[in-house]
Amino acid sequence: MQFFTCIKPGTKHENNLYLQVGKLFVFSICCGAEDEADFNYDPNGEKGPANWGRIHPDWGACSNGSMQSPIDLLSERVDVVSHLGRLNRSYKPANATLRNRGHDMMLKWEGAAGSIEINGTEYLLKQCHWHSPSEHTINGKRLALEAHMVHESLDGKIAVVGIMYMIGRPDTFLSSLTKQLQSVAGTYERDTVAGVVDPRNIKIGSRKYYRYIGSLTIPPCTENVLWTIVRKVRTATREQVRLLRVAVHDESDTNARQIQPINSRTVKLFRPEDKDD
Ligand SMILES: *[C@@H]1O[C@H](CO)[C@@H](O)[C@H](O)[C@H]1NC(C)=O
Ligand SMILES: *[C@@H]1O[C@H](CO)[C@@H](O)[C@H](O)[C@H]1NC(C)=O
Ligand SMILES: *[C@@H]1O[C@H](CO)[C@@H](O)[C@H](O)[C@H]1NC(C)=O
Ligand SMILES: *[C@@H]1O[C@H](CO)[C@@H](O)[C@H](O)[C@H]1NC(C)=O
Repeated sequence: MQFFTCIKPGTKHENNLYLQVGKLFVFSICCGAEDEADFNYDPNGEKGPANWGRIHPDWGACSNGSMQSPIDLLSERVDVVSHLGRLNRSYKPANATLRNRGHDMMLKWEGAAGSIEINGTEYLLKQCHWHSPSEHTINGKRLALEAHMVHESLDGKIAVVGIMYMIGRPDTFLSSLTKQLQSVAGTYERDTVAGVVDPRNIKIGSRKYYRYIGSLTIPPCTENVLWTIVRKVRTATREQVRLLRVAVHDESDTNARQIQPINSRTVKLFRPEDKDD
């Protein structure tokens, strides 16, 4: 038997995820705060981004962290490298639930949905959620949408793969979720069964990616997150972006955190030597 549960913020076990396999408990970090009531994106609100670090004792990194996300991926500052290696995604179809978290829509795989391997570490795919407009910017420019595929290693390290979208042709993966998105659009903290969802259908379409060390972009803003942002900008329709954004219930009508200081970090851009993509 296997189950996943997220324990609500404010408890001693804040934001931790427990994976139970038989009698063995593996302890690890979860996917950020679950409850809309705890924070929002209202720039002037008391629960807005400027105050996230003060809302809960464990959210201090949101104000005081030194390696926060998102950042601007400014091309002048990016080191182009060819040694990071191509992303080894080995995903598989698994049952998933779509949840309106009030601040975003999250697709959470209940079963094993496979993993991504980065520099010898295997990170298991846990969930995917969306921000609009995009959180990361390229030369100061925000795009229409950004998907975050959140992965976690068995020892609790987090790796997020970000995919950016501009307005254009429909994204086929989002098209496949239209009915489920519509059914949870109105009410937050509402789940709907999404059935078997194949993460391989979340297309990347490029081998180039940015890599840097950052944080979760929502409380608790946990640091040391290994970020991979796919270089290629994909497309989605205005309607698809709108459907994802109806989860946001505050006045701001956005769920993108502001750009954070890069401090002493470097951003790498992986470009394979054979340049065939
Ligand atoms: C941030 O750091 C300052 C100075 O060290 C400290 O006074 C403050 O309580 C910290 N805030 C949070 C939210 O951790
Ligand atoms: C999904 O869940 C259904 C119903 O519980 C189950 O019969 C099916 O085997 C599951 N599929 C996968 C791929 O896990
Ligand atoms: C992907 O797998 C290949 C072959 O096993 C390996 O050489 C490469 O380093 C891996 N890439 C990453 C990013 O881990
Ligand atoms: C990959 O892992 C090795 C061994 O842990 C480490 O020395 C190296 O710096 C890592 N490479 C990258 C690109 O993170």
